[in-house]
Amino acid sequence: MDMDDAIVVQTRDLTKRYGDQTAVDRLNFTLREGEIFGFLGPNGAGKTTTLLMLMGLTQPSGGSAVVCGLDPVRRAKEVKRLIGYMPENVGFYPELDAVQSLEYIAALNGIPESDSQRKIGELLDLVGLKKDAHKKVANYSRGMRQRLGIAEVLIKDPKVLFLDEPTLGLDPEAALNLIDLIARLKQEHNMTVLLSSHHLHQVQKISDRVGIMINGKLVAQGTLEALAQEKFGLGDQKYSLEEIYMKYFQEG
Ligand SMILES: Nc1ncnc2c1ncn2[C@@H]1O[C@H](COP(=O)(O)OP(=O)(O)O)[C@@H](O)[C@H]1O
Ligand SMILES: [Mg+2]
Repeated sequence: MDMDDAIVVQTRDLTKRYGDQTAVDRLNFTLREGEIFGFLGPNGAGKTTTLLMLMGLTQPSGGSAVVCGLDPVRRAKEVKRLIGYMPENVGFYPELDAVQSLEYIAALNGIPESDSQRKIGELLDLVGLKKDAHKKVANYSRGMRQRLGIAEVLIKDPKVLFLDEPTLGLDPEAALNLIDLIARLKQEHNMTVLLSSHHLHQVQKISDRVGIMINGKLVAQGTLEALAQEKFGLGDQKYSLEEIYMKYFQEG
């Protein structure tokens, strides 16, 4: 990532209110092509609501966003086609195997069968499910399901991935595995990723920049070094994302 890279997402005072509650409060942030942005914050901070607005799945109460050059409010259908969205709770068909699941998703996305077979093979290889390709998803571990979920969102060749807590409920090894996969998508395919996760140690390893959302407000965004400097001042000491996060959390 560098500053000349194309802007994939930009928001201007993006706001969502539910009744009296402001779930997302004047959010301003930029996501650039080829970047992994770690989108952090406690439960209820407004992360999922932000993603839904960026996809045109819920209307902002104020402000605006541009996603891949489009306004998600007016061009929701096109925007959705460009985003590979993996929601917090991915639904699976337990009776299908991985190949059947991907065939189904490919058909839903209008991908011709001549292309889909080759693509499915490549994707199963990429996410490390080749040898389990004909096992029913019912018998998959949570980590395997999440990797299948990534393959499902990649099948339509999205411009950007929105991964909403993909490591939730994974054991350390499975979380690491998934994080390595996300890092490879960036390194080998220049994928742009907006990643929300509570696995701060893992997020730290692969994120170019992070944003910390608390009570609907993005209280910080930048590189780890920049945030450490903002909160702890200049110094030689290295701070972990966890230490930085907790400092923002305690002080706002
Ligand atoms: N459809 C909804 N109706 C009312 N309140 C909602 C709705 N969706 C989310 N909220 C509220 O908005 C806040 C932000 O939620 P959410 O975006 O899901 O946070 P996060 O993804 O960071 O955990 C929470 O307080 C949540 O209860
Ligand atoms: Mg959420």
